[in-house]
Amino acid sequence: MGRLMAVTTTNERLAELSADAIVIGLHTESAPSGQAEEFNRATSGLLTRLIEAKEITGKKCETVTLLAPPGVKAKIVLVVGLGPKDGLDRGVAFRAASAAAKALAGKERSRVGFFLADGWAAELVEAAVCGSVVGCVGQDLYRAKKNRFPFAEVAWGGVDSAIVSRGDVLGEAVNLTRRLVNEPPSEIFPESFAAEAEKVARSCGLSIEVWDQPHLEAERCGSLLAVARGSSREPRLVILKHSGGPADAPPLALVGKGVTFDSGGLSIKPTDGMKTMKCDMAGAATVLGAMQAIARLKLPVNVVGFCGLVENMLSGNSYKLGDVLRARSGKTIEVLNTDAEGRLVLADVLDVALGHQPAKIIDLATLTGACVVALGNDVAGLMTNDQPWADAVKAAAEICGEPMWQLPMFAEFGEQIRSEVADIKNVGDGRWGGAITAAKFLEEFVNGKPWVHLDIAGPAFLESSKSWLDAGGSGFGVRTLVEVARNS
Ligand code: BES
Ligand code: MN
Ligand code: ZN
Repeated sequence: MGRLMAVTTTNERLAELSADAIVIGLHTESAPSGQAEEFNRATSGLLTRLIEAKEITGKKCETVTLLAPPGVKAKIVLVVGLGPKDGLDRGVAFRAASAAAKALAGKERSRVGFFLADGWAAELVEAAVCGSVVGCVGQDLYRAKKNRFPFAEVAWGGVDSAIVSRGDVLGEAVNLTRRLVNEPPSEIFPESFAAEAEKVARSCGLSIEVWDQPHLEAERCGSLLAVARGSSREPRLVILKHSGGPADAPPLALVGKGVTFDSGGLSIKPTDGMKTMKCDMAGAATVLGAMQAIARLKLPVNVVGFCGLVENMLSGNSYKLGDVLRARSGKTIEVLNTDAEGRLVLADVLDVALGHQPAKIIDLATLTGACVVALGNDVAGLMTNDQPWADAVKAAAEICGEPMWQLPMFAEFGEQIRSEVADIKNVGDGRWGGAITAAKFLEEFVNGKPWVHLDIAGPAFLESSKSWLDAGGSGFGVRTLVEVARNS
């Protein structure tokens, strides 16, 4: 959407390709092989000389730009490190290609050739193509002077075009998620997010249902509605359906937290904590991105995506500390912190998801700062009520190179959210273990269905750039969700 970058294939030899730049890959600890060796030969040993001089090492995501090397038609050759040969996996392929694209996209270039894949398995090629689509897009949405210039064309050398288009689909899905996260909260609020979802649904053949405020009221979504009350923006619930499997096969449910801005409500956040809270709809954006890819890949499975969209604001209408809410499931919730709003939104969305008789559920949410304290900025917390299901999600994440780590769900954490006034309260007793008490709260609303909760508060939004990706929305989780859908 928005950007037009053609992703193509070419059977031209790398030395002969007419392009502004070409990219080749290099492993550490071995002589150049495959396309790198071909480049070395075409340039009469330039690559080996640079390796011997230790100017190029092949370390993961290292990028070295060579200007006008003799023997090659392209004016620029970028050598990107692939790390050790036996460590090459989809995560490395994605990041290396993304790093190369990011480095080259600092200037306008119309055609860039990628010659990385040397007998790579289809999944590796796909991940790398995805990276080449993701790396050249930044967060400069509203800058007159752009930092990144997506290429007019990316040409992949010596690979199958069907694989390349799958990688392109994945990359565009990741970029959709990133763009929605990067848009300011004045542009992306519940109604406009739902409008974006409608555009996506129309263009890729998903069926879509949007619940507005009266519909949410009729459905007694009292928990979600309470959070939305302080804002002048109405909430929405978006339901996206991909029916690729047998009509009677119970679907996979993907549920996303879509707080389009989290001020904290009356339990207001300080400026530093509020600065990045446009990213609090990343869970919903990840679900939308994944649904787009699942539909475009025509996966033979049934998947339903749910985006719970609200803005958490302060006004005379705000929900208050001490309020008791009645969630759609019938459970009552005592509110003791209006900044623990994500779980209140998800309580009702999970209940709606249960109504679709899902086989399994995954929710994604930028839910707690505590998860970032526990696991840092790059790792998502994974919590579950069903170990085999968690193992399946973990395996998919691992294979995609999206780091996730499981946190325990001991019953003792659940005791912390007991209330004297209502069935449960929306915060634990103190701040310790906050990622887990939040998950224990959500568990109250999945009725024992196999469920995995992914707390993506850390990795969804990069505060500083990586060698392979600009800061801002990362699209974390999209590739894992698609992988899970493929395997189910
Ligand atoms: N959206 C925040 C969590 C968050 C923090 C996301 C940092 C991304 C980066 C969430 O709604 C929140 O405010 N959580 C509180 C929970 C607390 C009040 C129990 C938190 O983490 O402090
Ligand atoms: Mn909050
Ligand atoms: Zn939040």
